[in-house]
Amino acid sequence: MSRRKFYITTPIYYVNDQPHIGHTYTTVVADALARFKRMCGQEVYFLTGTDEHGQKIERAAQAKGLQPKELADQVVERFKALWGTLGISHDDFIRTTEDRHRRGVEKLYQKIEAKGDVYKDKYAGWYCTSCESFYPENQIVDGKCPDQGHKVEWTEEESYFFRLSKYQDALLKHYRAHPDFIFPETRKNEVTAFVESGLKDLSVSRSSFSWGIPFPDDPKHVMYVWFDALANYITALGYGSDRKLFARFWPADIHLVGKDILRFHAVYWPAFLMSADEPLPKRIVAHGWWLRDAAKISKSKGGIVDVFPLIRDFGVDPLRYFLLRDMAFGQDSNYSDEAFVDRVNADLANDLGNLISRTLKMIEDYCGGTIPKTDTRFREDEPIKKAAREAWTGAVKGFDALDFAGALARIWEFVGHLNRFIVQNEPWKLSQDPGRRWALDSVLYTVAEGLRIVAILIAPAMPRSASELWRKLGVSSDVTAASLEHFAWGELKPGKTIQRGEALFPRIDKAAYLKGAATAKEASMSEATAPPPGVPAAPRTVPAPVPAAGPAEVGIDDFAKIELRTARVVAAERVQGADKLLKLTVDIGSETRTIVAGIAAKYAPETLVGKTIVVVANLKPAKLRGVVSQGMLLAASDASGQPFILTTEEPVPPGWRVK
Ligand code: ME8
Repeated sequence: MSRRKFYITTPIYYVNDQPHIGHTYTTVVADALARFKRMCGQEVYFLTGTDEHGQKIERAAQAKGLQPKELADQVVERFKALWGTLGISHDDFIRTTEDRHRRGVEKLYQKIEAKGDVYKDKYAGWYCTSCESFYPENQIVDGKCPDQGHKVEWTEEESYFFRLSKYQDALLKHYRAHPDFIFPETRKNEVTAFVESGLKDLSVSRSSFSWGIPFPDDPKHVMYVWFDALANYITALGYGSDRKLFARFWPADIHLVGKDILRFHAVYWPAFLMSADEPLPKRIVAHGWWLRDAAKISKSKGGIVDVFPLIRDFGVDPLRYFLLRDMAFGQDSNYSDEAFVDRVNADLANDLGNLISRTLKMIEDYCGGTIPKTDTRFREDEPIKKAAREAWTGAVKGFDALDFAGALARIWEFVGHLNRFIVQNEPWKLSQDPGRRWALDSVLYTVAEGLRIVAILIAPAMPRSASELWRKLGVSSDVTAASLEHFAWGELKPGKTIQRGEALFPRIDKAAYLKGAATAKEASMSEATAPPPGVPAAPRTVPAPVPAAGPAEVGIDDFAKIELRTARVVAAERVQGADKLLKLTVDIGSETRTIVAGIAAKYAPETLVGKTIVVVANLKPAKLRGVVSQGMLLAASDASGQPFILTTEEPVPPGWRVK
């Protein structure tokens, strides 16, 4: 029997600026859902990507003195690096500047045109470049767009129009016939009211700038960026070229979007597809916004919460957990550093982290570090088995209903049961009584088996921690490949050796973090017993013995003055008239820098692009052969002075502090 398929998409993100917590949220939710469906035995196809055309990108590039494609090439690396770091399990990443995308867009347009749904006219009205959207006069408030309060501009240009008005009734009929099409319900009501208020034809071309896909028969015009962008969901499946992939996965099961772009997905997109006689996606699911001080966190409006520092300081899984646990799906949620620290400390460090540490420690102390056996005389595990089953059912139901906070809450109720079970059964007392050895073993087996189950349940949300937990329990298989279809108690094998190792979720020093004392945070990290999962261990800063004739000893404070960071090489070229020098453009996380390095004799420029290197980020700029170098890369050199550049053992995003 062939497996059920599940095709899930995220929005494709604009490349005008760096990714932030909002993009991270959508992508983490999609990833958790994709992982959940895989663990339920479904054949998943998970798509994300970047939206690279349009006036907004063209202007952002102009402001930076770059060509739009150059800007896109830089920013796309930031998105890819972030998704890589976060363990996002997408099957494809589409960029709208790719050829496969253009071909699919052209095909979609041609079908719509052949239907007689396109005509040429003149557009005169308000345009919001930030939303890349047209707005009627009566919706403009104080010169700003109604959706997000961005400035609008009066625009008059020749344009092709799509007969959106023709699809008004068909759309309303579809919403009625498919009550699940738009989720949640409140959003469905808003969209329905919007369509009922009357749809105007939609301008689907722009002729006042050129950064887009040219119209096949009229290259003075480029495709309206939303027409271009929405098509990604089918062009990535090879629409117009690879029938097999398209036939297997289309229609999408879920288009996951933020509420800001629901109208484009629930009104325009289905209308385009109806016109092209293609099936409609099954569900458009809209989540709420992360706010800061009651305002939406966004690239254009600010309030950015950059997730790279959070990951760098606390690890990937605490961030994934926080995002899924702290937002009631569909509603808005206010981001605060305090809420982040409290959530991570309470749920991860205290409840689960301590449970794992104390259980493993007791297995080490009382059972020689191997998983003990449970005894048939032991009956006190019955309520735990029942609680495990309930947590399983509740979590599966929650994930399925997109209620991530609810699913995790069910799992944490079970974690609470396990903690109470230890207290009630007092294994430390049982360990004093040789006649109760069987009870001691049974108690510890029960908790360890409970933790095995917890690992399966948290795997969609925190895959790395789940894997690490299985490894600690001596389970050698891959937890992310475990099945969520059938609950089974008792699969943990007695006799396996545990690996206690370091704490899985170290506590965050709240006071230091809230003070915003980045340096204090970094210093304390190097003293911590373990780095958070996902963050490479910071080398312990034990000063090496200094050779008598070598440089003078420096204290840790002096060393800390040097800001070493990881950087990704974005471009590299030779410096004219200097045999030894290369000019590198590097992304250091917060910005792009030029660095001149004397490594041309050893490295061809093209071999460096994409590499992660280590740079001194706070070195005074210096001019070398007319080029200002804004930093220095680190390289070891042999006796002849031949350089060997330093890189990281595993891929890490640009901007991480090196110590
Ligand atoms: O709209 N809270 O791209 P975009 C939660 N290219 N989610 C947020 C958020 C916030 N504060 N800010 C952004 C575009 N998001 C188009 C999409 S799709 C065919 C084209 C998330 O870079 C949320 O998913 O502005 C939102 O819909 C998306 O990022 C917008 O990303």
